[in-house]
Amino acid sequence: AEEVSLVSLADRFGTPLYCMSEAGLRHRLGQLQDALEGLDFEICFAPKANASLAVLRVLARLGVGADVVSGGELRLALAAGIPPGRIVFEGPGKSQEELEFAVSVGVGQVNVESPRELQVLDAVAHRRGCVVPAAVRVNPDVESGTHGKISTGRAGDKFGVPIDRVEALYAGAATLRGIRRVGVAMHIGSQLPRLGPFEKAFRRLADLVAALRSSGHRVERIDIGGGVGIAYGDGTVPPTPAEYGALVRSVFGDLDARIVAEPGRLIAADAGILLARVLWRKESGQRRIAILDAGMNDLIRPALYDAFHAIVPVREPGSDAALVEIDVVGPICESGDTFARARSLPALEEGDLVAFLGAGAYGASMASEYNARRRIAEVMVSGDRAALTRRRATYEEMLAREFVPRWLESER
Ligand code: LLP
Repeated sequence: AEEVSLVSLADRFGTPLYCMSEAGLRHRLGQLQDALEGLDFEICFAPKANASLAVLRVLARLGVGADVVSGGELRLALAAGIPPGRIVFEGPGKSQEELEFAVSVGVGQVNVESPRELQVLDAVAHRRGCVVPAAVRVNPDVESGTHGKISTGRAGDKFGVPIDRVEALYAGAATLRGIRRVGVAMHIGSQLPRLGPFEKAFRRLADLVAALRSSGHRVERIDIGGGVGIAYGDGTVPPTPAEYGALVRSVFGDLDARIVAEPGRLIAADAGILLARVLWRKESGQRRIAILDAGMNDLIRPALYDAFHAIVPVREPGSDAALVEIDVVGPICESGDTFARARSLPALEEGDLVAFLGAGAYGASMASEYNARRRIAEVMVSGDRAALTRRRATYEEMLAREFVPRWLESER
C-alpha cells in the first residue's frame, strides 16, 4: 500500500483490516476533475461509499463537498471540515429531525423527492426564518443496466419525482416562501456498466431544464448523481471518467448551469483494500476451501449483490507456483458468507494474507457486527506513513451497549 508493507500493517493493526490510500483517493479525484474540466462543476462525494472521517478529511482538503443521506453522514461531513454550503442532503426518507438539522446548519442544497417533502421543508424553513435552496430529484424512468438492487431511476422505483410531474412541482414551489428553487437532480443507479443509460437520462434531464426555463423558471444547478462504475476485474469494463466527462460536457456544456456530481465508488473503490488472513484450509466434496478471518459482516457485497472482488495473495507467489481452484469464504455461519467460488489462486495456506481489491467503496461503510463480530478496523496510508483511522470495536463496548430489562434482572 503506497510505500507501506501490508504484512507490517497486518502485524501492527491485526486483521481483518481495511486500508485506504491517500494517494489513491487523490488520483481518482484528479481523474474526474480532469474529465469535467471546462464545465462549471462541483464534486460532492457520496459518504455512503466510504464515511471514514479520515477519507472525508482528505477530500475536504481538496475542496470536495459531500452528498449526504442521513443526519449521521451530515455530521461526519461537517466534522471532516466540509463547508455546509458544499453539502447536498438527499434521500427518499429524510426525517423531520434530519431536515431541521440540515436547514439549521445551512446545507447548500436539499434534494426533494416528493410534493409532501417540499411542503414539510417549507414549514421547517418558516420555523427557522430562512429560505432553503432545494432541487427536485427527478425519476427519469431509465433502465440503468446495473444490478437490480442498486438501480434507482426506473418508473416504480422509490426514488424521485416522475419526470412528467416535475414541472408542476417546480412551479408550485415558486409559491413557497421558504423554498428557493435551485435546480434538478437525478441518480439512476450505481456501478453502471455502460454510458448509454447515462446518456438517455441526461438528455431527458436537459430537455426538462429547457422546458422549465421556457416556462420562466430558474435552473441554476443540475445534479447528475453518481453511478460511474469501476473495473473490478471480472471482465466488465465500465466507461472511463474521461468518457463520462465527455458525455456530461456534450449534454450539459451549453446549458449555463452548475453541474453537481455525486461520485462515491469512482473515488473510493480503487483506493482501498480489505486485508484478511487465512484461518483454515479444508476440503469439502471436490472443493478446496480457504476460510478467512474476514466475513460477510466485513464485506457484504459478494453476498448481497453477487459482486466480484479480485483477491490476491499478499506474498507474491513464485513464477512457477501452480494455480488451484479455491472457494474463498468467511467464518460466518451461513453459506452466503462466500467471497468467491472456484477462484484460481496459488494454494493458500494457513496464516497467509490476502487482499480484496476495489474494497474502498461500500466495504467498511456497510460493515456490521453480525455474529457479534467486532466492527472492523480501518487504516490510512500516505507515502511511508500509516495510521489507524477507525479502531476495531472492543467486546467491552459491544456489551456496554446492551441492556437487560429490569424484570429479567433477578435470577428467576
Ligand atoms: N448519489 C445518490 C443519490 C446515490 O444514491 C448514490 C449511491 C450515489 C450518489 C453514489 O453512487 P456511486 O457513484 O457510488 O455509484 N452498496 C452498493 C451501492 C449502493 C449505491 C447507492 N447509491 C454496492 O456495494 O454496490
